[in-house]
Amino acid sequence: MPAVLHLLAHPGLATSHVNAAMWAAARGVAGVTRADLYARYPRHDIDIAAEQARLLAHEVIVLQFPLFWYSGPALLKDWIDLTLEHGFAYGAGGDRLHGKVLQLAITTGGTAAAYAPGGHNHHEVRTFLTPFEQTARLSGMRFAAPYVLHGALLADPAAHAAGFARLLAAWTADRVAPEVFDRAILTHDTLPLTEG
Ligand SMILES: Cc1cc2nc3c(=O)[nH]c(=O)nc-3n(C[C@H](O)[C@H](O)[C@H](O)COP(=O)(O)O)c2cc1C
Repeated sequence: MPAVLHLLAHPGLATSHVNAAMWAAARGVAGVTRADLYARYPRHDIDIAAEQARLLAHEVIVLQFPLFWYSGPALLKDWIDLTLEHGFAYGAGGDRLHGKVLQLAITTGGTAAAYAPGGHNHHEVRTFLTPFEQTARLSGMRFAAPYVLHGALLADPAAHAAGFARLLAAWTADRVAPEVFDRAILTHDTLPLTEG
């Protein structure tokens, strides 16, 4: 069964509406290693060796964060810049992440209508996630469809949080269907799970 790593990057979890509910629901899933990056590194003093060792010990890496300025919060960028270094994630000898799965679990303030051609943000949310997708590809990781909640400021977080827990549990049980790599995004009611 794949070892699953769940990393959270939210700078204000105490006032979070949805990500806190997702984090709480995920804590009930057995067999997942989890870390709250802002709690661990409030000064962005990332322990690169420890983060790399943790990546090596897992096959599925799930990054949970709220969309900030069409990207991730700043600590997540620092984490990527420092942890996915040359000789580890890419470049000569940089094959240590090959074959692993990377999945994002994001929330957006903008509604689904805003993330559509002709909408307020002009592009679908996957377009804004292209740097993450290409980072995965360069690192030899397979990029699974992101688990997304649009309109997070007004949404009832319960169904989304429960769906996130179901998704994590499915990864640990090897019950996520291969179409996860073909979908644009996943939502709590469109999870591609196999019977188990
Ligand atoms: C600094 C900042 C930047 C944000 N940028 C975006 C953005 O680019 N697109 C968007 O849809 N929402 C944006 N938002 C809204 C957040 O995505 C939203 O507040 C979050 O997903 C809600 O999750 P939470 O309840 O767990 O905090 C931004 C919020 C903050 C504080």
